[in-house]
Amino acid sequence: YKRYKSAPVVDFKERTWPNKQITKAPAWCSVDLRDGNQALIEPMVVEEKIEFFNLLVKLGFKEIEVGFPSASQIEFDFLRQLVDRKLIPDDVVIQVLVQCRDHLIERTFESLEGVKTAIVHIYNSTSTLQREVVFGMDREAIKEIAVNGARLVKEHTKNFPGKIIMEYSPESFTGTELDFAMDICTAVQEVWEPTPDNKIIFNLPNTVEMNTPNVYADQIEWMHTHFKNRDSISLSIHPHNDRGCGVAASELALLAGADRVEGTLFGNGERTGNVDILNIAYNMFSQGIDPELNIEDINEIIEVYERLCKIPVHVRHPYGGKLVFTAFSGSHQDAINKGVKAMHEKKKETWEVPYLPIDPADIGRKYEPIVRINSQSGKGGVAFIMESYFGFKLPKGMHKEFADVIQVISEKQGEVAPEQIMQEFKKSYLDRK
Ligand code: KIV
Ligand code: ZN
Repeated sequence: YKRYKSAPVVDFKERTWPNKQITKAPAWCSVDLRDGNQALIEPMVVEEKIEFFNLLVKLGFKEIEVGFPSASQIEFDFLRQLVDRKLIPDDVVIQVLVQCRDHLIERTFESLEGVKTAIVHIYNSTSTLQREVVFGMDREAIKEIAVNGARLVKEHTKNFPGKIIMEYSPESFTGTELDFAMDICTAVQEVWEPTPDNKIIFNLPNTVEMNTPNVYADQIEWMHTHFKNRDSISLSIHPHNDRGCGVAASELALLAGADRVEGTLFGNGERTGNVDILNIAYNMFSQGIDPELNIEDINEIIEVYERLCKIPVHVRHPYGGKLVFTAFSGSHQDAINKGVKAMHEKKKETWEVPYLPIDPADIGRKYEPIVRINSQSGKGGVAFIMESYFGFKLPKGMHKEFADVIQVISEKQGEVAPEQIMQEFKKSYLDRK
């Protein structure tokens, strides 16, 4: 353990968070086609990217990072296809990533020809570690790269017929001294001269998640409260998931003042991935907040994602996993059974069922797989299957007797499918002469 440093912390005297809960959806930006795609074993080809782009549009993303067109011909061609085939709806803004270098910025603007509105996303790495071991540069030299990038984008924007929104990321922000992060953002802000009607996006990435989520939130809060002309800035976060806390870090950062989240579907991305936007959105949904994304059919999202990314969604993945709406233990099954019944009988409008944080049907999942019968299941579970699958309401007195029959079978073979439960029911009761 001595090989690792503990996290630097921001020393707040007073917490300024106005809210204890997230109350509205942030601006979402999908980086699936850039950060996500660059981390695939087999990156998507142009037609696959187009299909993924169409999915993102259908889901309601209004900002989509489509790639790094100056870095590869495929990315350039993909963007040209989007433009030439008129696939970018008027209310969707595409975003392109580029380093702060003249010829790359020039090539990026070539790729954007004919685009009505685009976010040009420039970045350079700013952390103490990267300054020291990667670039061998001091703060001033690193700042100069960013300022020069902003100037170049401004120059090219003058001759661009469409609208350009500037985004700047101090890459490795979380390893950057906050006063320096502020200094460099302020210098970029002075070049770009944003206004409340023409905001600049400052994207503060957790490029490698190295701290507990509260530390990231403190860093975001510090920037949020120290930015000048805050109303001319969209404060964006870009969390990765190295410690497995990307969702928690994002939620705390939103409480701490962030306006916008960059992430991917199911958390695809470099190493342990980017933050899973769907997870944050479904969390909001489960708290009664409109996530402003069309995510009612999770099955369709999974189908397209798995086919194009060639990555399976883990069976325990929040909301999306095959097993997340099942209950193996008898007491859980019984409680679910009672909860669902009470919902119907009392005509409750608010979803309140034990062990099921949301109604699976609300996101295109079914009740059927909720209860699975194995040797851990109790009598209530078997009765529930008979009623919910086959409409047989067993009298109370039969619950234990029939559950014992199924218990014997499950001890020998493991899980018992609903169809087999029905067969056993017929054998035990209906077929008896
Ligand atoms: O993770 C990161 O820091 C990035 C930047 C390019 C925004 O992907
Ligand atoms: Zn990233």
